[in-house]
Amino acid sequence: MLIALLPGDGIGPEVTAEAVRVLEAVAGDRLTFEEAPVGGGAYHTQGHPLPPATLDLARRADAILFGAVGDPSCDALERHLRPEQAILGLRKELGLFANLRPARLFPELADASALRPEIAREMDLVIVRELTGDVYFGTPRGRRETNDGRREGFDTMRYDEDEIARIARVGFETAQGRRGSLCSVDKANVLETSQLWRDVVTEVAAEYPQVELAHMYVDNAAMQLVRNPGWFDTIVTGNLFGDILSDQASMCAGSIGMLPSASLGQGGKGLYEPIHGSAPDIAGQGRANPLAAILSAAMLLRHSADMAAEADRIEAAVAAALAAGHRTADLGGAVTCQGMGDAVLAAL
Ligand code: IPM
Ligand code: MG
Repeated sequence: MLIALLPGDGIGPEVTAEAVRVLEAVAGDRLTFEEAPVGGGAYHTQGHPLPPATLDLARRADAILFGAVGDPSCDALERHLRPEQAILGLRKELGLFANLRPARLFPELADASALRPEIAREMDLVIVRELTGDVYFGTPRGRRETNDGRREGFDTMRYDEDEIARIARVGFETAQGRRGSLCSVDKANVLETSQLWRDVVTEVAAEYPQVELAHMYVDNAAMQLVRNPGWFDTIVTGNLFGDILSDQASMCAGSIGMLPSASLGQGGKGLYEPIHGSAPDIAGQGRANPLAAILSAAMLLRHSADMAAEADRIEAAVAAALAAGHRTADLGGAVTCQGMGDAVLAAL
């Protein structure tokens, strides 16, 4: 199968390189890789963060392994040329509406969590984040001048019922494959969009009588995530709330350098990326943690390649590397990005 490699900006290339070494070790004979530029680097060399040839490769590929985008030298560009538009464009163009972000604590990392170990240890959840709608894509949006000459910015939060129902189904199905409990997160006490969200999720629940459904306001969910993360099994939520809650969950899991993600559409194709960004402050120094990228590669094998056994092997090797004491800087250690890759390969 063909894997599109889009390493992107900042630490993207270094963490992706380690993920590729791991993929080659477990399934090299069945995978071919083709690389293309994306993000700020693509803007600088080709004038656009998502060049047509890169989008074309992403369309042709069976799966996409993505690093990170984000480049401070692009901060002043018009929005449609900023690096972030590349990942937003890929999600939208490929119809990757369901983003799975598992957050669990490797027991070896209990001390790295921002939470007390006895609380952190209980955490084993998945955030199912809607990825192609909400205030991220709603129109109208923009900046304008008010009648009395002040600047004003505005965005539109919107979801239609079909978008809500299809992500709700992914949430229920994910919960069904786990501990059978789904928490839908919204802000229905204030927002119309969220009230519709809550109504539709409640309707879809009738199709999944085995799953226990709860609703929670996003502010409360943020609080419960640090108070008692072990309570959550599967969370389903909109694009913006999911973006925020998944960063929060990552620190409960020890480091943002640990969390992988899968972005899926209707077919088997998916885009796999660490949830962390390009971290320009540490790029090129070999200090990045490649484990989120490596765990994303495992998700790729599981969801897009029907290679669950190989995915299990990678996840076990990550656990073994941590158990052997290897830690990158984000986890309080001094192992380099490549050194961590070596440790995972050795464990394989
Ligand atoms: C993420 C990132 C992206 C998002 C950015 C880079 C556009 O924060 O994947 O969580 O907001 O979705
Ligand atoms: Mg984010």
